[in-house]
Amino acid sequence: MGQFCTGVVIVTGAADGEPAGFAAQSFVSLSLEPPLVALCPAKTSTSWPRIRAAGAFCINVLGADQQDVCAVFARSGGAKFERMAWRAGVTGAPILDGVIAYVDCSLEAEHDAGDHTIAVGRVQNLAVLDDSRGPLLFFRGQYGQFAAA
Ligand SMILES: Cc1cc2nc3c(=O)[nH]c(=O)nc-3n(C[C@H](O)[C@H](O)[C@H](O)COP(=O)(O)O)c2cc1C
Repeated sequence: MGQFCTGVVIVTGAADGEPAGFAAQSFVSLSLEPPLVALCPAKTSTSWPRIRAAGAFCINVLGADQQDVCAVFARSGGAKFERMAWRAGVTGAPILDGVIAYVDCSLEAEHDAGDHTIAVGRVQNLAVLDDSRGPLLFFRGQYGQFAAA
């Protein structure tokens, strides 16, 4: 699977005003009509149950210079939002400062899938925040950035 290059997102949510989030690459656009996206949280994720409880999540698309942000959210536990500036989107889920785009969703459905689940989100709002920076990429276990051919 390492031969398949992806971007990296931070999936966030806030139940009872408490922000939670984790790094993910399993994000995909699913449907245009209605507008749906999907991602695959591991059943071991400690943040996903808190995000699920909020009934909404925000996909924060990382820029190439945000490997440090990815490292914070790829750890389980700890005060991930301590030094992170964010604001609440329309669903209440956190939009992180410095991301290049976000997709704010209500949780539409969740399907069992082995040691992960498939979470389907209905898009409530989305925006490009910076089209001058490229995305953070993940390929063969390493981070990289896009160079046009
Ligand atoms: C590049 C990258 C991609 C990842 N993709 C996923 C993913 O799609 N789903 C997932 O559940 N975890 C994924 N992870 C792992 C989680 O970020 C990691 O297990 C994290 O510690 C979970 O934190 P939590 O316990 O607070 O939920 C990924 C990590 C990295 C570095």
